[in-house]
Amino acid sequence: MVSENVEQLDQEAFFVSASPVMRKLRAQAELLAQADVPVLILGESGSGKDAVARLIHKLSVRSGFKFLKLNCAAMPGDMLESELFGARRAFNLGAGRSTSETLELAEHGTIYLDEIAEMPSELQARLLQALLKSDLDSEHRENGRPAGVRILAASSSNLERALADQKLREDLYYRLSAFTVRVPPLRQRRPEISLLLRYSMHRLAKHYGLSAREFPAAMLDVCQWYSWPGNLRELEAFVKRYLVSGDQALIPGEFDSEKGCEPLNSSRGTERVSSSAIARNPDETEPAPKSLKSFIQGIKCEAEKNAIGAALEKTGWNRKAAARLLKVSYRTLLYKIEQYQMNASLHSLSEPSMVRLAAHEKGNGKAS
Ligand SMILES: Nc1ncnc2c1ncn2[C@@H]1O[C@H](COP(=O)(O)OP(=O)(O)O)[C@@H](O)[C@H]1O
Ligand SMILES: [Mg+2]
Repeated sequence: MVSENVEQLDQEAFFVSASPVMRKLRAQAELLAQADVPVLILGESGSGKDAVARLIHKLSVRSGFKFLKLNCAAMPGDMLESELFGARRAFNLGAGRSTSETLELAEHGTIYLDEIAEMPSELQARLLQALLKSDLDSEHRENGRPAGVRILAASSSNLERALADQKLREDLYYRLSAFTVRVPPLRQRRPEISLLLRYSMHRLAKHYGLSAREFPAAMLDVCQWYSWPGNLRELEAFVKRYLVSGDQALIPGEFDSEKGCEPLNSSRGTERVSSSAIARNPDETEPAPKSLKSFIQGIKCEAEKNAIGAALEKTGWNRKAAARLLKVSYRTLLYKIEQYQMNASLHSLSEPSMVRLAAHEKGNGKAS
């Protein structure tokens, strides 16, 4: 399934660069790979920083050697220290032996330091020294092999703030940021969304030994306009849910109870409905709302359903006219109609919210 805009990073992972902004990033990664310099990779969580680091390694002279990732946010400082600098604190990124197992493993290869701003300050200082030393050693080649290890670093934090708070050392930042790659969030790479959905489906289906599912047009439409705050990681989780459940009414963001159901013509262009807040099948007993908050979300969804119902009735169930009236796309409206299981003959507005709110308060005592 590999095409012009998709390349294989390893047995399972693909790198998609099908939008103008990602094609530019791909070309930048290729240049940086050849330069064998440290690179700082910035981007929101889930946008693909690890993937870019792997791509740079793969395209570099070090690709025949190891790529090792150390997550500075997930490791206690002393563990990170011994991974990087070895038990005897004899750090050596240049040619020659080091006392650190990680460095030995990664010799001639690449070490990827994720969430660099979380690295303890003392280690940051030592990393800087090591980078400066490896600059001096950079002319060394051992039997034609690249000397030492190459450092790639990444961060999803606001580095200006990390610098201002003295969490990230300025000297290390300036050393690393000479070559910076910014991975755009998924909402700025919309032309890639359908390709990413299909590749993720293909990859996950293979991984779980399941048959890949087709995406219904209405689902693709919603995915196309969703804001994907969790970026590609959220997209993959969505594909996984669809692959496993086969629920054609799934929409991204629906498990995000904090955000819940947003209005149909939300200004962020993010249109989602909390599945926990609506019963898809009218015959199913609606689960009791867990909190006033989830109950209010339910009311919002109900309000949306009522607005759709009113627009449809006003236009005599002319769905194109109703979509215009509601200021949403025709496809979105069709999707919502399916979502709320509305139809011309059966459609009835749900119970007034106030009656249900009263029942809710009665059942839960006074809402605080
Ligand atoms: N360009 C890309 N093409 C295809 N899949 C990608 C791409 N970038 C990231 N992914 C996938 O998206 C998920 C999240 O990416 P990752 O690199 O771990 O994000 P980050 O490090 O920024 O949090 C991973 O499963 C990764 O394989
Ligand atoms: Mg990462």
